Amino acid sequence: MRIVHVPLATRSYDIRIAPGLLARLGSECAALKLGRRCAVISDGRVAPRFANRARTALADSGFESVLITVPAGETSKSLASVQRCFDQLAAHRLERKSFVVALGGGVIGDLAGFVAATYLRGIPFVQVPTTLLAQVDSSVGGKVGVNLKAGKNLVGAFYQPRLVLCDLDTLKTLPPREYRAGLAEVIKYGIIYDEAMFRRLERDLPKLLRRDPKILADIIARCCEIKAEVVAEDENEGGLRAILNFGHTIGHALEAISHYGQYLHGEAISIGQVAATRLSARTAGLPLSHVQRITELFRRAGLPVGVNLTAAQRKGLHQAMRLDKKVSQGEMHFVLARKIGRVEYGRKISPALLEETLKTLNH
Ligand SMILES: NC(=O)c1ccc[n+]([C@@H]2O[C@H](COP(=O)([O-])OP(=O)(O)OC[C@H]3O[C@@H](n4cnc5c(N)ncnc54)[C@H](O)[C@@H]3O)[C@@H](O)[C@H]2O)c1
Ligand SMILES: [Zn+2]
Repeated sequence: MRIVHVPLATRSYDIRIAPGLLARLGSECAALKLGRRCAVISDGRVAPRFANRARTALADSGFESVLITVPAGETSKSLASVQRCFDQLAAHRLERKSFVVALGGGVIGDLAGFVAATYLRGIPFVQVPTTLLAQVDSSVGGKVGVNLKAGKNLVGAFYQPRLVLCDLDTLKTLPPREYRAGLAEVIKYGIIYDEAMFRRLERDLPKLLRRDPKILADIIARCCEIKAEVVAEDENEGGLRAILNFGHTIGHALEAISHYGQYLHGEAISIGQVAATRLSARTAGLPLSHVQRITELFRRAGLPVGVNLTAAQRKGLHQAMRLDKKVSQGEMHFVLARKIGRVEYGRKISPALLEETLKTLNH
């Protein structure tokens, strides 16, 4: 088993990564000295596969669990779902020492984490992420929350889990498209922080695409380590944490103009990262050979690296970017790469250069 420690003073916790961890959920929670009652929050696709295993493990260690299931998909990340979860927690008399287990992808982690952060002003929660994206990204770092009609993640909190259990076996049933979308975040860590990991991805991509457990364990652990290091440095997102948004300003805008229908998040940020890479070559000295390597790796991972946008769509994209919550006082700041493994944040980019770059994405 690999263990990544997230050092946040009294809010420190471990991420454990191995096959078969779901069977150890009960004993791991017992070691945390949590109360006897808990709620497992999951979705309609994940619960039928894994909820029994999770609840049996909890029962074996003396925990009493209630299962709360919401429909699969982004629409469950809503205040209406939060309300339904609260009602069930209250109906089952969960108290201050009780805890929440988030069993699912990023949607469930964000929703259940927000429920845990706010019910009774905060009860402990444990993350059991079951998508690649959730294992390398959303379950680490403590951002929890839900969407409003006005936009994604507009209501939330910083609230750290007590433990993250990444059971590699759960990834076996993940649909290929969801798996590849997770790889877009994995590749991102290589670009922003770790040239050696990027090289390993170039070399071992076929094994990774086959979901080889040994490679998966190494890569997921390294991604968690990187996110943990960045978050430990900047827990509340004042500075360094911005580097995690490489490719995300354009990616989020693409998601927004397609009304979150056409692209999975990972697909949108694959295109966003290719665009950010090209901006980097123009303004941050990123060598063209690195632009090629980055684009090629996304392509080999089965991710989109271009998009045909009409002039009107590009205009919409500029507008969506200005609305992005990371834009302050109307100025667009980008994370740009100087070379693979090294980025800088807070770079201003002119609308004209952005427009020129977006045009190059047409294929
Ligand atoms: N908190 C953060 O820091 C952070 C970071 C990145 C993303 N996010 C959020 O994460 C969410 C996206 O997460 P996601 O990509 O995991 O999406 P998701 O939770 O919707 O999961 C994707 C799909 O896969 C299904 N699924 C999950 N695990 C499965 C498994 N093991 N086998 C078969 N099917 C499975 C789900 O039911 C769902 O249909 C977004 O809401 C995003 O805003 C949060
Ligand atoms: Zn992302």
